[in-house]
Amino acid sequence: VVAPVNLSKLVQEMSRLLESALSKNIQFDFDLTKDLPLVEADPTQMRQVVMNLMTNAAESMSESGGRVRIRTGTTKLDKKGIKALRWGGDLEPGIYAFIEISDTGCGMDEETLKRIFDPFFTTKFTGRGLGLAATLGIVRGHHGAIQVKSEEGRGTTFTLWFPIIKKPTPEILEPEPAPRDWRLKGKILVADDEETVRAVVERSLAKCGFEIIMAKDGEEALERFASENGSLSAILLDLSMPRRNGLEVLEEIRKVNTSIPVLVSSGYASEEFSDRFAAYGVSGFIQKPYIPAALVRKLEEILQGQKV
Ligand SMILES: Nc1ncnc2c1ncn2[C@@H]1O[C@H](COP(=O)(O)OP(=O)(O)OP(=O)(O)O)[C@@H](O)[C@H]1O
Ligand SMILES: [Mg+2]
Repeated sequence: VVAPVNLSKLVQEMSRLLESALSKNIQFDFDLTKDLPLVEADPTQMRQVVMNLMTNAAESMSESGGRVRIRTGTTKLDKKGIKALRWGGDLEPGIYAFIEISDTGCGMDEETLKRIFDPFFTTKFTGRGLGLAATLGIVRGHHGAIQVKSEEGRGTTFTLWFPIIKKPTPEILEPEPAPRDWRLKGKILVADDEETVRAVVERSLAKCGFEIIMAKDGEEALERFASENGSLSAILLDLSMPRRNGLEVLEEIRKVNTSIPVLVSSGYASEEFSDRFAAYGVSGFIQKPYIPAALVRKLEEILQGQKV
């Protein structure tokens, strides 16, 4: 049964039990990091692991007495660090929460160290040799790793790493969709000589929250632009219009306003004009016939592009 577990809290909650269950001539040292990142773990198994390691530590100094230190914290493990782990398993580089248990006990020689995780390997009279085998199984089951450092006569340190639960970072969170009427505000000048197009465009843009100014040819477009310049957010120009076509109109507009987004529409494919578009300062192109939703999307695009 896995759940998000704070390993510091788990050890903290066991501290009384450990102190009373293990030998009296052992001094306990808890060094637990507050607000440790959570790990996905089975708490019962985690307690079992801590108990196994603490029991071993206590048993390694049952005669002399000594100190056991339990530390928790986080470390970043890179590829090199993972490779250096003798019982590392195949971890991904990243941030890990760790529990470290060090004792000042008898320590182990290299021959013993090699076999400690083998089931039934024990050097103890009463031991069954299952504690560490079970521990390794649990750690692997949690996609973690174990490291052991030991020096004969001086002591042993077991470190266990567990992958932390990564909270979704703001970068990968989907941005909140902006409310429609917030983005789609503004006054749009629409110039098209086809009456049906003007009617459809006016209706659909107004529905999205835009204010519309209409012009039915190039000359009228320039007049409207002159009287509305400054209050306009964008301009939609059809390429083929009587009394000045779209590009001629655009040329005039760019003489006085270089920044206003201008969307050009045409029944011709855009490739036929694309080389000229750049020179005229076209912000976007929409192929006719278009559906209102496509027009709205294009307008959103060029309005957004302008904001940046
Ligand atoms: N902290 C330690 N210091 C010194 N030796 C250790 C330590 N931990 C483990 N060992 C060695 O590793 C062996 C295997 O440990 P493991 O916990 O698997 O079995 P055990 O303690 O012998 O028996 P069980 O845990 O089943 O009662 C031990 O017998 C001991 O030799
Ligand atoms: Mg044991």
